[in-house]
Amino acid sequence: MSNPLRLLSPDSQAGGAGESDPIHFDPAADAVDELESVSGVHAGYRRAHARGICCRASFLPSGKAAAFTTAPHLQEREIKAIVRFSGSSTDPGLADLLSPAKGMAVQFLLPEGGRTNLVGVTVPVFFARTPQSFMEMLTTLNRTRAGRMSKSEALKNFARHFGESRQSLLALKRLKPPVSYAANLYYCIHAYLLVDDEGRRRPVKFEWIPDAGVQTLSIHEAAAQPDDYLESELRTRLGEQPASFRLSIVLGEEGDPTDDPTKRWPSDRRRIDAGRLVVLEPVDEPAGLVMDPTVIPDGVALSDDPILRFRRDTYAESFKRRSAEH
Ligand code: HEM
Repeated sequence: MSNPLRLLSPDSQAGGAGESDPIHFDPAADAVDELESVSGVHAGYRRAHARGICCRASFLPSGKAAAFTTAPHLQEREIKAIVRFSGSSTDPGLADLLSPAKGMAVQFLLPEGGRTNLVGVTVPVFFARTPQSFMEMLTTLNRTRAGRMSKSEALKNFARHFGESRQSLLALKRLKPPVSYAANLYYCIHAYLLVDDEGRRRPVKFEWIPDAGVQTLSIHEAAAQPDDYLESELRTRLGEQPASFRLSIVLGEEGDPTDDPTKRWPSDRRRIDAGRLVVLEPVDEPAGLVMDPTVIPDGVALSDDPILRFRRDTYAESFKRRSAEH
């Protein structure tokens, strides 16, 4: 069967594949091509969440998750970490106020070597259920903006996906500009599985709850801020004292969807307070940093969420391109 993603983006075959050409089959490259079409190529930058700031951090696990998982960062030992806060835009020059959601990506440096990443954003759900619908929505957006798709066709395409993207669009609409990167609640969105020492698996989701509380600005206050106010605010804040977050693990129950990042679980699910992340000081970005959310240690497993699994190759593709540029 032909690649459904490829069929959705025939324009990227510009130049024309002749009959003897090999068939191109690279959904991750297609996805990154589409991300690049949103605001052009910004050499050296991530193809999404382009603008950001890295910090040195330390995670102090509470030990309460240890009954559910053998994962080394969720036992009792303190773990060093790198955090990258970001704006979600593909354009590193876009003002903080204009980039819709914010990101917080944490890389835990595991005691026996190796790493694992937890990547969150300020909305609880994603707008696409599958890589195919992600691509269809993004190509529709890009082609409409470039005048290559009529508005009525675009509306038809978006309407087809409205059911899955509705919650995410509502959450984006409700978002107010944050006072600080340190004053947001970040949702890691996807389900994962925690695996205990007897191999039992339990579906979970992760959230970072700010000790500073969620604090927002009015649009007037935000409009008076410099374009990069979130980075300068964080530098000033950390110059005075560390910022911190609790890692909250939401325990899924029978019937909670693990394969659908557009759906939330019921709000009464039991939670474990798994520990506290202390963000210490801004640092230069470490070489080779890729916050791939599928990099997990023993004691954690990936769920059957197709978007989660798709992210591995797209993050690698974005890294390949940006690290070859200056
Ligand atoms: C089809 C789904 C998705 C695609 C194709 C995608 C694509 C990308 C790409 C290409 C990057 C830049 C990677 C790099 O160069 O290191 C990125 C970064 C990021 N994405 Fe996604 N993403 C997807 C879903 C999500 C979801 C569901 C979340 C929410 C948790 C998310 C949150 C982030 C964050 C926070 C970053 C910045 C990471 C950092 O600071 O290094 N993405 N994404």
